[in-house]
Amino acid sequence: MTADDQKKQAARRALDFIEDGMKLGLGTGSTAEHLVRFLGEKVATGFKVVCVPTSDRTAKLATELGIPLTTLAETPHLDLTIDGADEFDAALRLIKGAGGALLREKIVATASDRMIVITDASKQVDLLGAFPLSVEVIPFGCDTTATHLKRIAAEYGCLGEISRRADEYGEPFLTDSENFIYDCQFGRIPDPDGLAKAMNLIPGVVDNGLFIGIANLAIVGGPEGTHLVEPE
Ligand code: A5P
Repeated sequence: MTADDQKKQAARRALDFIEDGMKLGLGTGSTAEHLVRFLGEKVATGFKVVCVPTSDRTAKLATELGIPLTTLAETPHLDLTIDGADEFDAALRLIKGAGGALLREKIVATASDRMIVITDASKQVDLLGAFPLSVEVIPFGCDTTATHLKRIAAEYGCLGEISRRADEYGEPFLTDSENFIYDCQFGRIPDPDGLAKAMNLIPGVVDNGLFIGIANLAIVGGPEGTHLVEPE
């Protein structure tokens, strides 16, 4: 079974947690895309939901599938957000942001009563950090911000290259909010809670891809089927 099959299984099982009439946050990435497609099938049969997308990409897909969308301005409080992750640990601390949508993902998840993470089995780790940590940075003064990021990271035992993400044309990647992303190849993050707080105190940092104390449940697709992981 491929990783994508596992993602699809997890996305399908997530449907069991969606009730008629719910206000939902819709994540971004390949796993979330499976969920949006399954949800689109349910909506086509008369299932009622209203959703806040976490990216322009997810908004486009949901619109194509006829899923009713709203905004946080219209619907500030959501029942549930379902989204993928790049890594998660036993405490359900997440690294997110490979898709460049971490800021809206975090805003939408924290506007929700619950967040469910859907992943393939490879995303579960003992220690976060093998996957690069994304940090969203305002373009103004970004080199200075990156220098502060390196210094703060080192204080938290995180060494390794920090590089600005480029798009397929070699131009700086821009998020939906027109910010840059810096990817931090730390290898290991010994103190995710401390690092997340310290990074967000740097002027110019909008947010980082560590989601701590936000996810309530992970649905993990694996070769033997899906299983649920709650924070320990
Ligand atoms: C998007 O910005 C990310 O946070 C994704 O949720 C994360 O990268 C997981 O992506 P996949 O579902 O494509 O693995």
